[in-house]
Parts: sequence; C-alpha cells; structure tokens
Amino acid sequence: MAKKPAQKNNASGWKTRLIEAAKNAQKNAYCPYSRYPVGAAVMMDSGRIFTGCNVENASFGLTVCAERIAIFKAVSHGEKKVRALCVAAKSAKPCGACRQVIIEFAPKDADIIYVDWFPMAKKQKVTMTKAGRLLPQAFDPSEAGL
Ligand code: THU
Repeated sequence: MAKKPAQKNNASGWKTRLIEAAKNAQKNAYCPYSRYPVGAAVMMDSGRIFTGCNVENASFGLTVCAERIAIFKAVSHGEKKVRALCVAAKSAKPCGACRQVIIEFAPKDADIIYVDWFPMAKKQKVTMTKAGRLLPQAFDPSEAGL
C-alpha cells in the first residue's frame, strides 16, 4: 500500500493550523466602521502561534491592522523571528504599513499566506508567497545605517 510522504503531511499540518488560527482570530475583529473583519496569525521561530484581528477606532487613523497586532503580541512575548504569517479576510493582503512591519521581523524566506475568506463563506482560496517578495525597494535599516 502506498504511504503518504511524512514531510508533506507535516508541511500541510502547520499551514492548516496557522490558517485556522487566523480565521478564528478574524471572529474577534472590532470593525464597526469598515465592517471588514481581518484575522492574522504568525508562527514564530519557536513554533508558537500568536494571533491578531483588526481593532478600529472612532478616530479612524488609530485603527490597527490584524497583522501588526499579531506581530506585536509575539514580539512583546520575546519572540522576534517570524517563520510564517497568515492573513484571513475577503481578498486578504497586508497593507503597505504592515508589510514594512512584517519584513522587520520576517526573514526573506518566511512563508506568507493569504486566505481569501470571510465568516460564513463556503470556500476559501489560499495563496502563498515569501516575505522577501512583499515590499520591493523597501526601506532597509542596514542600508540607512540604523
Ligand atoms: N486591515 C487589516 O487589518 N489588515 C490589512 O491587511 C488590511 C486592512 C483592516 C484595517 C481596517 O480595520 C479594515 O481592515 C479596513 O481597512
């Protein structure tokens, strides 16, 4: 009987867990103004997962995106290296500000997963990329001498 390759199973295991964590976090979104819920989950180098959702404010500019909340939670727990990040929303993709924050903590080969999904949806579409592709010609602190 054919055996499934173990590595493939493990690979999809962490991905499924991260996607489910992001989708669960999306349920906590506080988005009374946009009505656009976003969930994010980061897997850090230790293997720990931290989640975030967008948190809006009546003073709109104070809104914080799901991705930044997930990353800042991880960093505030002493975890500074992102191995993979997942964002779940309808046509999910991180904004420019979040991309700059992601590349601060994610090496170029970290996996970035977009899950096109909204609560109650029947189908999801998963797109994968790498952190190194998020922000061409990004502000680079080492080049700036920081
Ligand atoms: N938002 C995120 O949380 N992440 C993104 O990648 C894009 C935008 C939030 C901010 C705001 O609460 C709502 O989505 C609409 O812009």
